[in-house]
Amino acid sequence: MATTTTTSVANAAEGVATLTLRPSPASASNNTNEEYAYAHLLPHFSADRYPPLTPFEHVDPASRALSHPNPRSFLDNATSVAEITPSLGTEVQGVNLATLDSDARDQLALEVARRGVMVFRDQQDFIDRGPDFYLQWGRHFGRLHIHPTSGHPRNYPEIHLVYRDLKSSFNFEVDDSITSTVWHSDVSYELQPPGLTTFFLLAQPQTGGDTLFTSQVQTLKKLSPQFVAFLRTLKAVHSGVEQAEFSRAGRRGGTVRREPVEHIHPVVRRHPVTGEEALYVNRQFTRRIVGLKREESENILRFLYDHIDKSADNQARVKWRPNTIVLWDNRITAHSAIVDFKESGEARHGARITPQAERPIPALDGLEL
Ligand SMILES: [Fe+2]
Repeated sequence: MATTTTTSVANAAEGVATLTLRPSPASASNNTNEEYAYAHLLPHFSADRYPPLTPFEHVDPASRALSHPNPRSFLDNATSVAEITPSLGTEVQGVNLATLDSDARDQLALEVARRGVMVFRDQQDFIDRGPDFYLQWGRHFGRLHIHPTSGHPRNYPEIHLVYRDLKSSFNFEVDDSITSTVWHSDVSYELQPPGLTTFFLLAQPQTGGDTLFTSQVQTLKKLSPQFVAFLRTLKAVHSGVEQAEFSRAGRRGGTVRREPVEHIHPVVRRHPVTGEEALYVNRQFTRRIVGLKREESENILRFLYDHIDKSADNQARVKWRPNTIVLWDNRITAHSAIVDFKESGEARHGARITPQAERPIPALDGLEL
């Protein structure tokens, strides 16, 4: 039975906030006392200030697996490998991610690029290795992104945390909307947005709090060839300003450690390893299409967002169980949290490891950005 404990979250804007936590069954089972097993991974909002990110050359680890004679051999010992939907998502049991060597991690990156999302169950070993291991894991896949506004474990700014319970939310959540669904690709406003992303929950509600994913490859494929040809010629502005303003208003810990940026990305990007084309706009961060009249931009983006929203035939839903790790390729998928457990008062506490990847490559050769 889950117990209720009290712990603290450091909040730069408001001093130290006291939270009441009800650990998930998984974390409770790890506890013989009242202490929350992952209290050291609760969000901390430092008053640090960061300079702008600088460009870097990204070598995608998946590219190293392309010439591998058996690029799925990291799954050889799996007890179960099941596709969640035909074109998006694979669920794996019997593979301990924490023990994958460099070659196997490259294979994993390629498989995630091909399937969009991979769900690995029974990963307590990985989760309990702790934050230094998380960083070592993530750095295999790229330079680790440091989020400009989110909470992180004390002294580990590279680990992005989501956290909500009955009394607190340290997430970017719109509360005057009829839905908590906000499709997005993480921090797409950066010049080099993330690629292979690792996320897991440390505490979760008994039910609810699932995560929705959609394939932006399939989103694009559903459109007519003539319309796709037009979209390939377009580029759009992605902005981190609204997210920063949300924090500046005193929410989500109330701190902005790096000034928000806007960058222009192609509306259709090409995956650097698989060569697949994917739609690359999202309601959360994409603001306008460059060069079009305002009404043209607004209507095309609204049409694309509606298409993303309602195409359940492109989507997969991940139901969390304790000790689950989900990896997705942020370049070719979009996702949304589902906040349907508020009334339960239970905590949902997650950690994300977010390597940056290449500057988005236009699907149309020669498109100037
Ligand atoms: Fe996200």
